[in-house]
Amino acid sequence: MNFIGIERQQTVLAVAARRAAELPNLAFVWDNAKNLSELFEVGEFRRLYLNFSDPWTKKRTYKRRLTYREFLQEYRHIMGDGAEVFFKTDNRGLFEFSLNEFCADDWKLSNISLDLHHSDFVGNIMTEYEEKFSAGGAPIYRLEARYGKRIE
Ligand SMILES: C[S@@+](CC[C@H](N)C(=O)[O-])C[C@H]1O[C@@H](n2cnc3c(N)ncnc32)[C@H](O)[C@@H]1O
Repeated sequence: MNFIGIERQQTVLAVAARRAAELPNLAFVWDNAKNLSELFEVGEFRRLYLNFSDPWTKKRTYKRRLTYREFLQEYRHIMGDGAEVFFKTDNRGLFEFSLNEFCADDWKLSNISLDLHHSDFVGNIMTEYEEKFSAGGAPIYRLEARYGKRIE
C-alpha cells in the first residue's frame, strides 16, 4: 500500500519529508487539500486519512474544515464508489460538526469512538498530535466513513 501526505505549509512538509526519507511507500504533495481534484485522477486513491485537521473554531470559518460537505463531495468524486475517510480529532466541536456533515452527504459511518484510547478499537497508530493531546488527558474522537459500495 502506498501513501501520499498532503500539506500546504512548506516548512511543515519539509520536516515530514526529512523524517520519512527512508520510507519507500510514502510521498508528499505540497498543496492545499482543496485542490485534490487538480492533483489526482478519479480513482487514483481510495482512502483518505484526516488526522487532527485544523478545527477552524470561529463560526464564520466552518467552510474551511476538511469535513465540510463540499470537501466530502470532492472526496467521493475523486475516490468514486467505495470512498473511505478515516477521521480522528481531539476537538469535540469539529467531531460533532463532522458527524452532521457526513450524514448530510449520505456517508455510512462505522467504528465511531468518543474516546478512542479507552475503546475496543485495535490497531490505532498514534500521530504526533495525538500523542501530545492524549498525554494531557483529552479524549480522542474517531470515525470511519464510507460512501457507496466497496469495490475490491
Ligand atoms: C494540527 S496539524 C495535524 C498534524 C498531523 N496530522 C498529526 O496528527 O500529527 C494540521 C496540519 O494540517 C495542515 N492543513 C490544514 N488545512 C490544510 C489544507 N486545506 N490543505 C493542506 N494542509 C492543511 C496544516 O498546515 C497543519 O500542518
